[in-house]
Amino acid sequence: MLLSVAAVFIGSQMCRSCHVGIYDAYAQTAMAKSSGRVEMLAPAEFSAAGHRYRIANNRLFFDGGSSAMNYFIGSNAAGRSYVRAHEGHLFELPVTWYEQKQKWDASPGYEKEATIHLTRAVEPSCLQCHSSRVRPVLGTQNRFGEPPFLENGVSCERCHGPGSEHVKDPAGAKMVNPAKLEPERRDAVCSQCHLTGEARIERAGRKISDYKAGDLLSDYASYFVSAIGRRDLKVTSHVEKLAGSACKMATGDVLWCGTCHEPHTNADRSQQACLGCHEKAHNKSERCVTCHMPRTKAIDAGHGVMTNHSIPGRRRPDPEPAQGSLKAFLGTADDRALGLAYAEMGDKRAREYLLRASPQDWPVQLRLAVLEPDAAKSALLYESVLKQNPYETSALVNLGTYFAKQGRTAEAGRLWERALAANPGIEEAVLNLSVIRPAKEAQALLRRYLEVNPVSAKARQRLAEMELR
Ligand code: HEC
Ligand code: HEC
Ligand code: HEC
Ligand code: HEC
Ligand code: HEC
Ligand code: HEC
Ligand code: HEC
Repeated sequence: MLLSVAAVFIGSQMCRSCHVGIYDAYAQTAMAKSSGRVEMLAPAEFSAAGHRYRIANNRLFFDGGSSAMNYFIGSNAAGRSYVRAHEGHLFELPVTWYEQKQKWDASPGYEKEATIHLTRAVEPSCLQCHSSRVRPVLGTQNRFGEPPFLENGVSCERCHGPGSEHVKDPAGAKMVNPAKLEPERRDAVCSQCHLTGEARIERAGRKISDYKAGDLLSDYASYFVSAIGRRDLKVTSHVEKLAGSACKMATGDVLWCGTCHEPHTNADRSQQACLGCHEKAHNKSERCVTCHMPRTKAIDAGHGVMTNHSIPGRRRPDPEPAQGSLKAFLGTADDRALGLAYAEMGDKRAREYLLRASPQDWPVQLRLAVLEPDAAKSALLYESVLKQNPYETSALVNLGTYFAKQGRTAEAGRLWERALAANPGIEEAVLNLSVIRPAKEAQALLRRYLEVNPVSAKARQRLAEMELR
């Protein structure tokens, strides 16, 4: 038997000729429009988190400099965040447009930043949920091809699998139809983007970005939620919340996202859905969800509000906010996954699980290195991390610092340079290099970094000191 390579992703445009109705309807949805290149921004002046900003000609101006605004994330249903590109490296900008409030303000997570933060790396996972056919550059933390993704928003193939064979032979090479999958594989199609829980931990050697519609998500990652549940909403908590609803618990696999959401038009068919199961319900002429799925503020969405998918009732109030123990929502709670999940939450239970973890691969060693009190042991762990993942930036910076303290400055310098190649926004690497390099070279490095981050007070001060000398 002859073997051929598996189907590949070709883009939604290729589906239009045969599925024109679906294509045109879907193109209007929020998911299809969830990212893209910035075209024209209206000028604005505002302050956010105590800093003054001005927008003009698609640039963001602030005290100390300005930055391009190259890409947007978010269709603007609730809001829209912005990304800038610096020599192919992407960074999130500190301001977001909030559609419901009709105003610019600090991006979620930037509300309390004392200085303007311009070096938050956009990692591939962010674009994986908001765009399609993402092109991360290997060996870097936040560098992408130009353009960084080949298709704006969520493409057809994210829910239907790669289409290269189907377009040649529609009847022979069938696409995945989520509605025809067994429940666990069906639900995974939406969960790949609508579920994060408290922590999602990739299995050893697997990447969520390799997930394709039809696969089991638990083959790629374990997802953890609070063992006692949480009362508040998060942006990607729809799956977790629905799972906790009385409706889902009583009906099991019958109820899924597609019961209430028509995927191609995003038509809301929830009223039919409620009445389909609650034939004898009260208030039949009213919209059930206004009372039973109230909209509240999500804790991680800045000013956005979201729909409570736990369909709370009087008999079953939502539990108190998360505190403490985790349990697996999807996948397995083995020592490795639990240890990494606790580490992500900064919980000190992490270490005991990580010490028992198997395999002891680089993500485990990286966490253990951070938690390890003995500097020499920690350095050995970092060295092992870098053998498996030569561009892990925190291992590069921290092992460099250890070497420098041992007087091994040449080795330290090479590690810090590698960190900067992976992500030129790593301030620690630049400042460290400026200490060990000859004055001219150090000044050039600092000037180059100030192009990446014009508001860095430390780099400016270091440069001023050197120029004085
Ligand atoms: C050349 C025409 C053609 C193109 C291009 C095409 N399709 Fe289809 N598609 C069909 C036909 C015909 C069927 C029905 C096949 C059958 O059931 O025998 C179909 C069926 C489907 C189904 C239903 C599968 C099921 O089992 O229910 C999905 C989903 C689908 N296509 C998605 C896509 C996507 C996504 C693309 C773009 C990557 C695409 N199609 C491109 C012709 C096409
Ligand atoms: C590749 C990632 C991805 C997949 C797969 C995905 N979604 Fe989404 N979905 C998103 C993103 C991102 C948004 C936010 C869009 C925006 O406003 O920018 C979203 C928004 C939505 C919305 C709100 C739309 C609106 O108009 O406000 C609904 C409903 C939704 N998704 C349902 C689903 C369902 C049902 C599935 C599975 C059949 C699914 N999604 C699969 C990423 C995804
Ligand atoms: C695990 C998938 C996932 C990741 C990772 C993710 N998002 Fe989202 N994001 C979503 C989904 C799903 C929604 C829609 C939620 C809703 O409508 O309730 C959303 C909503 C948003 C919105 C509001 C969109 C709108 O139209 O109102 C913005 C802005 C946003 N995300 C920005 C980002 C940025 C910036 C990153 C990375 C730094 C990121 N997200 C990472 C899945 C993700
Ligand atoms: C967010 C996930 C999602 C995206 C994106 C998506 N689909 Fe679908 N699609 C579904 C689901 C779920 C079904 C099954 C609907 C059902 O039977 O209730 C489906 C069914 C289909 C079918 C077969 C049933 C029918 O309605 O004819 C075709 C064909 C199809 N999709 C094509 C497309 C094309 C083309 C695109 C891109 C323009 C696309 N889909 C984008 C989730 C998605
Ligand atoms: C697939 C069927 C199904 C769908 C769809 C469905 N439910 Fe339910 N729901 C149930 C079942 C079964 C129960 C459990 C009955 C019980 O425990 O008395 C339930 C319980 C409830 C409860 C009681 C909650 C509690 O905590 O005691 C409320 C309220 C409710 N549903 C409202 C809704 C609303 C509103 C909708 C539409 C948005 C909806 N349901 C959709 C099947 C469904
Ligand atoms: C019982 C019906 C029902 C089910 C099942 C359901 N939703 Fe929803 N969903 C709604 C309603 C109602 C809204 C609010 C729509 C509106 O206000 O226009 C909504 C809104 C959303 C939104 C927009 C943001 C927000 O929170 O308002 C997203 C995203 C979403 N749902 C995702 C999902 C996902 C993913 C699943 C599967 C895990 C799912 N929904 C299952 C009824 C449902
Ligand atoms: C005006 C607000 C309102 C509307 C509209 C509404 N409900 Fe209710 N519903 C309530 C309140 C209040 C209760 C009692 C408290 C509770 O258990 O949540 C309730 C209780 C319920 C219960 C639980 C009954 C039990 O056995 O405890 C179900 C099921 C239910 N509603 C379904 C529906 C459905 C289906 C619709 C739409 C046809 C609907 N409701 C419309 C306010 C509303």
